[in-house]
Amino acid sequence: MSRILVTGGTGYIGSHTTVELMQQGYDVTVVDNLSNSSVDVLDGIEAIVGKRPQFANVDCNDYNAMDKIFCTYPDIKAVIHFAASKAVGESVEKPLMYYRNNIGSLITLLEIMKQHDVRNIVFSSSCTVYGQPDDEHLPVGEDAPIQKALSPYGNTKQINEEIIRDEAHADSNLHAILLRYFNPIGAHPSALIGELPNGVPQNLLPFVTQTAAGLRKELKVFGDDYNTPDGSCIRDYIYVVDLAKAHVKAVERMLEGKADEQVEVFNLGTGRGLSVLEIVRTFIDVTGVNLPYQIVGRREGDIEQVWANPKKANEVLGWRAETPTRDILASAWKWQCHLAEKK
Ligand code: NAD
Ligand code: WQD
Repeated sequence: MSRILVTGGTGYIGSHTTVELMQQGYDVTVVDNLSNSSVDVLDGIEAIVGKRPQFANVDCNDYNAMDKIFCTYPDIKAVIHFAASKAVGESVEKPLMYYRNNIGSLITLLEIMKQHDVRNIVFSSSCTVYGQPDDEHLPVGEDAPIQKALSPYGNTKQINEEIIRDEAHADSNLHAILLRYFNPIGAHPSALIGELPNGVPQNLLPFVTQTAAGLRKELKVFGDDYNTPDGSCIRDYIYVVDLAKAHVKAVERMLEGKADEQVEVFNLGTGRGLSVLEIVRTFIDVTGVNLPYQIVGRREGDIEQVWANPKKANEVLGWRAETPTRDILASAWKWQCHLAEKK
């Protein structure tokens, strides 16, 4: 079976993807510098799969160390590149750190892949590249216009997509699949791996589960005066395990040489928009726990409403986000309870 290199593989989406790859029989080498994850995640992966992935504590910007990985594993057939810094607010405060980490690591990776004749890359992009689509482009298809990024983080995703396109133009052997994720949430049903936010969570779901667990006083719902049915913002919340499975499909497509174009783009979402208040109410209903919340003012830079048109991923990739919202929210809560037990 083929070996896949997963950068950022001890992170949230990377760990779930490593599980799905291994369960499909792939050999996996994880590279992560543990800047936003813990080495213990490997125990969780091993407990689920019954086998431990190969692991290297390496920074993707470190050319020599990355080169060594490709020398050690000459059977690498494709790379899934998750490794990146991802906190939007932090990127506004530390733009240079974000440009260096997110752009430098991709350049290094592409150089080394070429050196070792590994020409398949799956890249973690984001719906953030679309900004607020106009009515005509909702739900958002892959052909919706890319808008000026609202943060250095978002800009790194746009620049990375361009770097991949430019390199593919120059090197006709390079194949890339750019996966634009909407809002990944939830945890593995085993509750052995999940999201491990650093400090105060900025994203909705970890804030919800930590508040329900009593770790935070109350959830602040950022605005109920948007032009949406209940006034709160709308997103396309996609289950992280469904998202992980899309990566397996993308890798298969590349390795089987089925890609129609050298660089393909897929939006990964459910096709269903949910408001913040719908998430809050469903979470309370599913878990039966108390979730204190208060409506406060809008958060600067928030998009009003965005959700995916996943038709291309459904039809071309043969993938569909199938998990019901209630199950996803239950998995997030189970993971939070598991974390509390571990303490
Ligand atoms: P995460 O922080 O949990 O995982 C990223 C991993 O990369 C971490 O384990 C971190 O330690 C590692 N890392 C960072 N820089 C590195 C470097 N230079 N070398 C080696 N390892 C490095 O984040 P995630 O939520 O799993 O996101 C994975 C990818 O998906 C990122 O590229 C992110 O931008 C993208 N993405 C995430 C979301 C989201 O909402 N979670 C949405 C769209 C896109
Ligand atoms: C979701 C909704 C908030 C927290 C961010 C990045 C984006 C992408 C995904 C990577 C919004 C509301 C949130 C809270 C709230 N990441 N909210 N109270 O803003 O869609 O996107 O993560 O690429 O680039 O910007 O996700 O989870 O922060 O917010 O009311 O305490 O929940 O206003 O409507 P967002 P989020």
